[in-house]
Amino acid sequence: MCAYSITAISPGRLGKRAELVSVAVDPAFLGKGAASALMDSTLRRLRRRGITRLGLMVKMTNHRARAFYEKYGFRRLRRIARYYEDGADGLSLAKDL
Ligand SMILES: CC(C)(COP(=O)(O)OP(=O)(O)OC[C@H]1O[C@@H](n2cnc3c(N)ncnc32)[C@H](O)[C@@H]1OP(=O)(O)O)[C@@H](O)C(=O)NCCC(=O)NCCS
Repeated sequence: MCAYSITAISPGRLGKRAELVSVAVDPAFLGKGAASALMDSTLRRLRRRGITRLGLMVKMTNHRARAFYEKYGFRRLRRIARYYEDGADGLSLAKDL
């Protein structure tokens, strides 16, 4: 199975926060729990490091990813018009840990 996720922890004043930069699963393995396993492990590690909030940006049209984040209780902060290169809007989401 091939999947990855990247999370960045902000230094300095916002040091208790992190950003989920990217997560993706090999198309051959979608829907088999790979992303959930990565997210569970990421959340566990962030909590252990005292991080209190995880933020991310998702394409408005990415319904699969949005369902995934919804399952994890991310809440919608704001919609950013034409955030992506293809003109799609971005949704800023966050979850308190
Ligand atoms: C979003 C993504 C990471 C989910 O990976 P995954 O391994 O398929 O996810 P999981 O199997 O762990 O499923 C987790 C949840 O995602 C949602 N989900 C998964 N497949 C779905 C589908 N076909 N339709 C709608 N929701 C789906 C469900 O909420 C699911 O929870 P459930 O199994 O309890 O119902 C994957 O679709 C992907 O790599 N997409 C392309 C890259 C991308 O869009 N990354 C996010 C950028 S912000």
